[in-house]
Amino acid sequence: MIIAYESKTGFTKRYADMLAERTGSKAYRAKELPPADKDEEIIFLGWIMAGKVQGLDKVRKRNVIAVCASGTARTAEPDNETVIARNKIEDKPFFYLRGGCLPLKELKGLDKILMAMFLKMLKSRKEKDEELEEGISNIENGFDGVREENLEPVLQWLSTR
Ligand SMILES: Cc1cc2nc3c(=O)[nH]c(=O)nc-3n(C[C@H](O)[C@H](O)[C@H](O)COP(=O)(O)O)c2cc1C
Repeated sequence: MIIAYESKTGFTKRYADMLAERTGSKAYRAKELPPADKDEEIIFLGWIMAGKVQGLDKVRKRNVIAVCASGTARTAEPDNETVIARNKIEDKPFFYLRGGCLPLKELKGLDKILMAMFLKMLKSRKEKDEELEEGISNIENGFDGVREENLEPVLQWLSTR
């Protein structure tokens, strides 16, 4: 088994490296996956952008046995079911891993524009609960939610197969 990942700002890479260490597997960026064995089992980890797991299309033809996706919020945005359907991974185990984000002012290009739009949308909501306030603060100030314990469900699933 090997691990493939796509990570723009490093949060997902940290999970990939942790998973590699915990399972004794190697972790590769999706575009650097060795072509060698087409049947080799792959666990894929990617960051979510607008509901799409980034980098997943690069490994579609390979033997991906599970998909992990990282976002900033407590749960996947918009939600697990939408992410699973949007990425056509209904046939595989899916794990959401809470990642993190850089402060908005450190983002660049399209990422910054999209996040600024998302922030505006969150701020315009009339009823702001604690989770929404947290989301707004995380986008503005940055947030690091990477925790080794978040990988437990993945490790648990691996141990039962
Ligand atoms: C432009 C943009 C769009 C995003 N869209 C989503 C999304 O649709 N759902 C979600 O859960 N997280 C979304 N995120 C949050 C990222 O997936 C999260 O910050 C992730 O942990 C970053 O991983 P990385 O550091 O490996 O690139 C978005 C982030 C950016 C910058």
